[in-house]
Amino acid sequence: MIRAFGPGRVNLIGEHTDYNGGLALPFAIDRGVTVEAEPLDEPVIRAEALDLGEHDEFPLADPPPAEGWRAFVRGVAAELQAAGIALTGARLSFRGDVPRGSGLSSSAALETALCLALIAAADAEEPDRTELAKLCSRVENHWVGAETGLLDQLASLHGREDHALRIDFAALALDPVPLDLAGWHLVTVESGAEHTHAGSGYNERRAECRAACEALGITSLRDATLEGLDGTLLKRVRHVLTENERVDATAKALDAHDLHEVSRLLDESHHSLRDDYEASVPEVETTRARLKSAGAAGARMVGGGFGGSVLGLLPPGVPRPDGAFPVVPGAPARLL
Ligand code: GLA
Repeated sequence: MIRAFGPGRVNLIGEHTDYNGGLALPFAIDRGVTVEAEPLDEPVIRAEALDLGEHDEFPLADPPPAEGWRAFVRGVAAELQAAGIALTGARLSFRGDVPRGSGLSSSAALETALCLALIAAADAEEPDRTELAKLCSRVENHWVGAETGLLDQLASLHGREDHALRIDFAALALDPVPLDLAGWHLVTVESGAEHTHAGSGYNERRAECRAACEALGITSLRDATLEGLDGTLLKRVRHVLTENERVDATAKALDAHDLHEVSRLLDESHHSLRDDYEASVPEVETTRARLKSAGAAGARMVGGGFGGSVLGLLPPGVPRPDGAFPVVPGAPARLL
C-alpha cells in the first residue's frame, strides 16, 4: 500500500504577490491530506473521498471534467500524463485534517499528495518539485477554474521544518528563512466564512492586476510604479508593492529576533489587504478583532481572502484563544 502526505500551508506574509511576480514567506504545516493508493490492472482510477463518503471512477485516458474534489483527482491524473508520466490504474482513497475553505490550502495538500501517490503507484520517477508545483497549479487553472498562482504548491512541496520559505516568484527562487519565534506562537482561527477561489473575488483581483499591467505597459507588477494609475487599480498595485517590501522587512525582523516588528508588519499587511486590496469580509474582521483582544500582537487574514482563516502572533505567556490552532513549519509533501 502506498501512502502519501501533502501538507497545507500558512503564509506568514506576502499575500496576492505570487501571481504578480512578487515575494512571499509561507511555510508548510503539519496538517494536510493523506492519500492511499493501490495499483490496479485496469486503466481506470477509482477514488474515494473518505471524509465526504463520496466516490469517483474515470478512465485514465482523457479523464472527463468534473466538479468539486473530483476535478482535483481527474486534473492531477490528466496533467501528470500530459507531462509525460506514464500512469497505471489505481484505487485511491484520501482524508484530510485541513478544513476545506479555511484558507490553509487544503487544495494544494490534496494535489501534492495525489501527485506523489499516483507517481509512486506507477513506479515512475518524481519530477523536479518546482515543475510539480506548476503542474498542480495547472490543475487549479484548467480543471478547477481557479486562477491561483504558485504560492500554495511551492510551500507544500518545498516546505522545511522550523523554516519559512522566502519565495521570489519572478526568479522562482526559494530561500529557507529560520522561523525561530523565541517563545512566541503562531495560531490560526477560522472566520467561519468559507472561501473558494473559483467563486470569490480572487479571479476578479487577478483581472485587475492584469489591467494595471496593461495600463502601465509592463508584464508583471513587480516592475510597477504608482505613477499613471488612479482609483481602484492604484490601490491594488499599492498593496502589491508595499506587501513585497513587508516580506523582506519580515525576513529581516525574524533574523533580528524582533517579534514586535514582525507583529507590526502582520497588522500592516492586514490593513493593506483590507483597505487597498479589498479582500476582507466582515467575518474575517470580527475574527481578527477577537484575536487581537485575546492578546495577539499581530494578526492578518491568510490566503486568498474573502473568507478563510486569520493568523495571529501571540507573545509568550498569552494563552491560546478558544478555537485557535497552533501552526508550526512542518516537512514537505512526502511518501509515508
Ligand atoms: C491563494 C492562491 C495563491 C495566492 C494566495 C494569495 O492561496 O492559491 O496562489 O495567490 O491565495 O496570496
